[in-house]
Amino acid sequence: MTAPTAPYGELTNTGAATNIAWHHSTITRVDRAQQRGHRSAILWFTGLSGSGKSTLANAVNAALFERGLACYVLDGDNVRHGLCKDLGFSDADREENIRRIGEVAKLFLDAGVVVLTAFVSPFQADRQRARDLVEAGDFIEIHCAADLAVCEQRDTKGLYAKARAGEIKEFTGISSPYEAPESPELRIDTGSQSLEQSVAQVLGHLATQGVIPQQG
Ligand code: ADX
Repeated sequence: MTAPTAPYGELTNTGAATNIAWHHSTITRVDRAQQRGHRSAILWFTGLSGSGKSTLANAVNAALFERGLACYVLDGDNVRHGLCKDLGFSDADREENIRRIGEVAKLFLDAGVVVLTAFVSPFQADRQRARDLVEAGDFIEIHCAADLAVCEQRDTKGLYAKARAGEIKEFTGISSPYEAPESPELRIDTGSQSLEQSVAQVLGHLATQGVIPQQG
């Protein structure tokens, strides 16, 4: 009789697997780009909660979809319901969250998809690790640079009020740090400019990178 499988969450971590080899796919990323007519990329949106990462990522995603590109949004609030539901908001858990997202984004990149990730991703070292997983040029870091005061004033999810009241611990910007990127590929003033302007800024950059055709 086979032993019953332990339910999710009770698995014993026995360390990294051994005796595993890497299988090279016979279909390459170049083949996929040729078939689909566009290259893939990782658009890594970072910023405070409420800075507009998800809104902008979804709007860019819609614009790319309309142009016929294969594209997909990985969103912090959604991914934390599944792939990362075992993780909280300690520094170590955030690091693991971003590590997993970096690896998943790399798979999407290989699959020929323009993947848009919308995570606070507050730590420079964690974002750098995600960047280092892929080739230079494949990782486009987009800082949604709305000020804390603006995000807090918006407080779309009511989380800043709870964080100020001490009901949420380790809240980014209040009781946990946000390390803004020093030299992101794009910095977008999501605090004051319109969504349309922000989308145009991202699409303009993607045109210069050959992800979408130059706008005429
Ligand atoms: S990250 O720091 O690990 O990148 P992630 O983007 O996945 O964070 O999740 C952030 C979202 O979780 C926020 O938009 C907010 O809705 C929610 N959240 C809940 N608790 C916290 C917290 N302590 N700090 C930041 N965001 C939180």
